[in-house]
Amino acid sequence: MTPFLVKDSQQGYLNRQARRESNARSYPRRIPIAIREAKGIFVTDVDGNQYFDCLAGAGTLALGHNHPIAIAAMQDLLQQNLPLHTLDLTTPVKDRFVEELFASLPSAFAQNAKIQFCGPTGADAVEAAVKLVKTATGRRSMLSFHGGYHGMSHGALSLTGNLGAKHAVANLMPDVHFMPYPYSYRCPFGIGGELGTRIGCHYIEQVLDDPESGITQPAGAIVEVVQGEGGVIPSPDRWLRELRRMTRDRDIPLIVDEIQTGWGRTGRLYAFEHAGIIPDVVLLSKAIGGSLPLSVVLYHKKLDRWSPGAHAGTFRGNQLAMAAGLATLRYIQTHNLVDRARASGDRLAGHLRHTQADCPWIGDIRGRGLMVGVEIVNPEAEPNAIGSYPADPTLAREIQGECFRRGLIVELGGRHGAVVRFLPPLIVTAEQIDQISEIFDAAVRSAHRSRQADCLAEVG
Ligand SMILES: Cc1ncc(COP(=O)(O)O)c(C=O)c1O
Repeated sequence: MTPFLVKDSQQGYLNRQARRESNARSYPRRIPIAIREAKGIFVTDVDGNQYFDCLAGAGTLALGHNHPIAIAAMQDLLQQNLPLHTLDLTTPVKDRFVEELFASLPSAFAQNAKIQFCGPTGADAVEAAVKLVKTATGRRSMLSFHGGYHGMSHGALSLTGNLGAKHAVANLMPDVHFMPYPYSYRCPFGIGGELGTRIGCHYIEQVLDDPESGITQPAGAIVEVVQGEGGVIPSPDRWLRELRRMTRDRDIPLIVDEIQTGWGRTGRLYAFEHAGIIPDVVLLSKAIGGSLPLSVVLYHKKLDRWSPGAHAGTFRGNQLAMAAGLATLRYIQTHNLVDRARASGDRLAGHLRHTQADCPWIGDIRGRGLMVGVEIVNPEAEPNAIGSYPADPTLAREIQGECFRRGLIVELGGRHGAVVRFLPPLIVTAEQIDQISEIFDAAVRSAHRSRQADCLAEVG
């Protein structure tokens, strides 16, 4: 028995957490669980209930919880008296991590790339990238995209679309300008599809060239290939290629935020590979630490105008994370988990479409690889000009709750929090995908039945 386990019910843990932890705590409000054990895709709560974990550390756990190869890599390191903390000094573990990370990148990017280890969160990689491109270009404005999510630190929040956490914080980083993202279901131009995407490209290009756009030549543009927190919105390859062309032609560094998509989640090792583009800057975190905190910025060496210490930080040398991350990368590559993510994502989306066929409150199913989103809508309301219904965040929350009660952890995201997000580990099996889909199907129908019963009761 672990020395940490106090004998208490789950509710006891949750009550203490609510009493002690800040009002900013987020996941426990929707996923009321005190986790006792975790293995693979499963977590078990302190009352002994088991759940499929399709949140997986918000997409961090590529190999699921406590994968034997990640644990073995950490144990090896611990048993050999290797250093655990090294600031940014090098070690054989770090050296190997960097070499194999570079080898995993498209060579057209890797051959000119440099790496900066950041404070261990994704947000610090975002901060570093903004400083990097501002320093290199001497410019001050940044481009980001509607619906984009880049973290919660001051600068990263400024680049994030969601207004929820922004309202209360005055004077965020100035000179951030948001461009439309190709979100076909809620097309910003009211058109959708291929034409909506083309108009979006045209709009961005026209803004970049308009001497009266109000936006000075940007220091950089930051983009997710698939918006994750923003509601699982994949950008069409053509759109990303156009964005690359427009930014390259105007000498604007393109920062691709792969913090959630990196290392196979979308069915390519790096999501930008789908479109075959080469970014100027790539941000990685989450999966690369093999479940421990690690984050890096990789960038074209021409941008390296930093002076020594330009982006410092105490916790940039997490050796355990590098060892676990390296083992994770090797496992992903040798076990074809990238192809498997694609096949598993297709299987999951197929099942979800089956459910959608007679559940009109599922407005859209989309994603790439094992990043899958289900947008919950109100089909009784007026559709907009392209036939999309308004989001139904209340029903989405009820569906999330029904999933949880049935042993499935999923997260919500997107506009109004109405998109149910699936981010299972890449090791999920076909059989588990089928079980997860069955639970979701039952949860969706049950949540809707309760909704109808409530409406009838109100009318009655
Ligand atoms: C695309 C993207 N960028 C940045 C971040 C921020 O990472 P962190 O939460 O580790 O600061 C996230 C976190 O979810 C993310 O999904």
